[in-house]
Amino acid sequence: MNDENEGVWMTLSDNPAGFLSLGPAANGRAIMTPDRAALWWLSLDRIGDRDWQDLKGLLTEAERARSERFHFEGDRQVYIAAHATCRGLLSYCTGHAPLSWDFSVEDHGKPELVCPPGGPRLRVNISHTRGLAAAALTVEHDIGVDVEWLQRTTPAEKLAERVFAEPERKVLAAAPEQRKLDTFLTFWTLKEAYVKAIGKGLSQPLDAFSFDLETLRIRFDDRLADDPEHWHFERYSPGPDHLMALAIRHPDPARLAVDAMPAPLDWLRDLAGK
Ligand SMILES: CC(C)(COP(=O)(O)OP(=O)(O)OC[C@H]1O[C@@H](n2cnc3c(N)ncnc32)[C@H](O)[C@@H]1OP(=O)(O)O)[C@@H](O)C(=O)NCCC(=O)NCCS
Repeated sequence: MNDENEGVWMTLSDNPAGFLSLGPAANGRAIMTPDRAALWWLSLDRIGDRDWQDLKGLLTEAERARSERFHFEGDRQVYIAAHATCRGLLSYCTGHAPLSWDFSVEDHGKPELVCPPGGPRLRVNISHTRGLAAAALTVEHDIGVDVEWLQRTTPAEKLAERVFAEPERKVLAAAPEQRKLDTFLTFWTLKEAYVKAIGKGLSQPLDAFSFDLETLRIRFDDRLADDPEHWHFERYSPGPDHLMALAIRHPDPARLAVDAMPAPLDWLRDLAGK
């Protein structure tokens, strides 16, 4: 973060549910704590022609230049929506200007916020797919988000054979034909959210861990020295055409409050105009 106002960090309130409705952060009082996570999603259907200029205004020069390099307009638009949502969420939760944040890139490509040493370490992750962008934010803990488009043509069972763990392949094989893709993408979003949270992306073998879709619990095989007790997962249907999953590592997931909502587009427009 490169602006001068370091802000004051609020303590967790007694009733953390829906804490984003308390925001946006004001008077230097950030609304994030290590026991909170915030998730915004933005459907491209909601974005009017005149909104794009405003959303672009929330991007840095480098992000704008990168957006220009996409070949397909749809890819450019979800990129802009995702990065504007991310910077908007950071502003909403901390009160700092959207362009005040810098990112570094870790070994496997995970962008991490540059935060002043000694202060709270903010963690974000973004995801974009056809028609939808999402950004997730917390303090200190590993966080990952994944969104997928439900209309994609994916050879679900063939791909699962190669990359899913055995219990997941069995669940997929037992799913009725009309639920195959949905079931595959539910596992896929959860798995991607996890590998994005740990920062390894697809360098992490996806068959070394598996999910129970009833409980949203994760199981690790011997290749992964990780503790299921320290993980919290959520899954969402942000619209009829998309699935989304969130993964957060937390020492006591029972303490965690996740506030997930559609990104407030009016607020983002106002932010861009400031
Ligand atoms: C890069 C990867 C981490 C996620 O890819 P993805 O699902 O295509 O992309 P998402 O939109 O969910 O996430 C991309 C964002 O994650 C972030 N990211 C990049 N590398 C990351 C990593 N190692 N860990 C966490 N986040 C990462 C970036 O912010 C990136 O967005 P940006 O390039 O606009 O800055 C990796 O898992 C990957 O390549 N996946 C392949 C996707 C695929 O094959 N999908 C088929 C589905 S059936």
